[in-house]
Amino acid sequence: MKKIDLKFTNRLINHGPLVVVSARYKARETFTPIAWNMPVEHDPPLVAVCISKENFVNSLIKRSKKFCINILESPYVREILKLGELSGRDGDKLKHVRLTKRKCLKIDVPYLAESSAVIECRLVRDVSLGDVDIFIGRALYSQANEKFKTDLWDPIQLKTIHHLGKNVFATIIKLESFDTH
Ligand SMILES: Cc1cc2nc3c(=O)[nH]c(=O)nc-3n(C[C@H](O)[C@H](O)[C@H](O)COP(=O)(O)O)c2cc1C
Repeated sequence: MKKIDLKFTNRLINHGPLVVVSARYKARETFTPIAWNMPVEHDPPLVAVCISKENFVNSLIKRSKKFCINILESPYVREILKLGELSGRDGDKLKHVRLTKRKCLKIDVPYLAESSAVIECRLVRDVSLGDVDIFIGRALYSQANEKFKTDLWDPIQLKTIHHLGKNVFATIIKLESFDTH
């Protein structure tokens, strides 16, 4: 993977992919599928994830004030669904899936080596709303594979996973180009 200019971090998730959020506090860590995520600001580069207070990842983010967004493509949808059936509270999820972890560069959190892009974040705001928290993170380091061309994903090659609801998932197709000014 190659380093991405932080000002283009928002483009990694602009199209609404299902992501896996990883977090770690002391020796405890987890990898949690999160459909509800979005870019927030270009500069500073801010992103947000909406996470149930019941999920283990929520407590890890609150304690460590760090999290990592992993963007994986369609070959990994079954592995991601498995991550969503388990809780890191009960042990190491990666024993149950064909996914491997690596150390992030800027934060003490693991990322998934199978990711097509990764965003390492420092928590800047926690908005508590009933049963969920919206965690807003500032991107400290972003990387992506060759399908990300400087400032944009290649829409022909990219096969990110998009959660429509229930157990229904889709990927993307490119529409005709539109001229912008
Ligand atoms: C496709 C999919 C999308 C999900 N999206 C979210 C989400 O946006 N927010 C959330 O809190 N949980 C979401 N979940 C549920 C968590 O991934 C799930 O409860 C997970 O087991 C929690 O793991 P943890 O306890 O280790 O954090 C989603 C699950 C799946 C399968």
